[in-house]
Amino acid sequence: MLNTPGITPAIGRIGRSITHSTMHFLDAPCNGRIDNHPERGADPIHIARLSLNGFRNHAKTALQLHPGLTVFRGANGHGKSNLLEAVYMLAIAKSPRTSVERELISWKLGESGGHVQILGVGREGDETVQAQLDYDVAAPGSSSGTGLRKSLRLNGIVRTSSEFVGHLNVVFFEADDLEIVLGSPTTRRRYLDILISQSRPSYLKSMQRYSKVVTQRNHLLKRVREGSAEPDEMAFWDERLAYEGAGIIHQRHQVVRQLQDAAIPAHAELTGGHDLTLEYQPQLTGSGPSDKLPEPFTQSAIEESLERGLQEARRREIAQGLTVVGPHRDDLGILLNGQPAGSFASRGQARIIALALKVAEASVVKSLTGRTPILALDDILSELDPGRRKLVLQQVSQYEQVLLTTAEDDAVAPEFLEHAELFIVNDGKVTPVAN
Ligand SMILES: Nc1ncnc2c1ncn2[C@@H]1O[C@H](COP(=O)(O)OP(=O)(O)O)[C@@H](O)[C@H]1O
Ligand SMILES: [Mg+2]
Repeated sequence: MLNTPGITPAIGRIGRSITHSTMHFLDAPCNGRIDNHPERGADPIHIARLSLNGFRNHAKTALQLHPGLTVFRGANGHGKSNLLEAVYMLAIAKSPRTSVERELISWKLGESGGHVQILGVGREGDETVQAQLDYDVAAPGSSSGTGLRKSLRLNGIVRTSSEFVGHLNVVFFEADDLEIVLGSPTTRRRYLDILISQSRPSYLKSMQRYSKVVTQRNHLLKRVREGSAEPDEMAFWDERLAYEGAGIIHQRHQVVRQLQDAAIPAHAELTGGHDLTLEYQPQLTGSGPSDKLPEPFTQSAIEESLERGLQEARRREIAQGLTVVGPHRDDLGILLNGQPAGSFASRGQARIIALALKVAEASVVKSLTGRTPILALDDILSELDPGRRKLVLQQVSQYEQVLLTTAEDDAVAPEFLEHAELFIVNDGKVTPVAN
């Protein structure tokens, strides 16, 4: 995996023989070439076994997987994305595609009731970690709420989502990633939050606490507006919001800097040198992102800024019954040649920026966790020209394990396919083939 075309003839499945080296993609001064430095602490991890039972159209899929590139090929609608969705759920404990978990249950089991499971065994050197998501599905008509009971387990032990996340790290690439560039701030916050949650165990917990504070604070703001609570009751919630919010802002700020360092060279390589800038834009006032961040940008300086921002926005917040200051309103500015990419980039340019951001995400997850994430690439090659396909494959093949889906026979160039493992996905069944 430390090889790239042009340096050694072999690509892709090289990771198999090297278990304790690491990929330094974009850690090095990056010209796309590889840093063959010895271990700097990142352990390669790969999913060795994956099984899906009753998950979407996968009635019973059981796979042995290896490091290197694995290609899942099949016509559209046969279950390729479903497979990678399941892999990603092993990392982030929820679906990237839907918040309605009923949709994940195979229709057949939805009718009869039963048990759904996603299970992955990750191997990191001599160690293994078994991550599993289980759903007990009640038959329709039974009285148990949504009829769905979900549990998360690591090595057989039940875990909360914040304990579960971060043990198998997966970076998921999909065609919709271009929404990170073109879509709303919510999409960009989600991108940052998933990245940080996977890398810092405490982050998801602080997000959960913060979101409770916002809910309670909104509730109180509405009561103040209606005259059933006094404005000075806000003080307690202002302080809570500033405290929890500052922790989140502080972490996002640090991570955006690292992202920037990794995304710029990845983007330059894919575009031949266009200029990308990332800019964290925390919402410290009620009137849009602050142009000047406190210096130094410490936790306590952020807390003070937030408290001031809340004071200034008081009347507006009461009038709207809504918290308008704080990290739930942050944005990540993405500039292409100095202009906001969301307004000025073409779809093609946005797609390349999104790819660079994903590649950067992988690099940041690796440096924060000391573990090399698994990359799951869901049908992202079809939108790219052959030259870019190659560049992307070169960039990602430096990771320990790459799981890639495609509907096309020739999306993966022969020099990559030659070292890949190939599976055909047909009607929810996944079969290995010799290639
Ligand atoms: N809960 C479910 N139960 C059974 N089949 C499902 C469920 N959810 C989606 N599907 C089926 O999965 C297929 C889509 O799978 P997907 O992985 O997105 O395809 P692709 O191979 O194009 O990536 C569709 O045929 C859809 O009908
Ligand atoms: Mg798909």
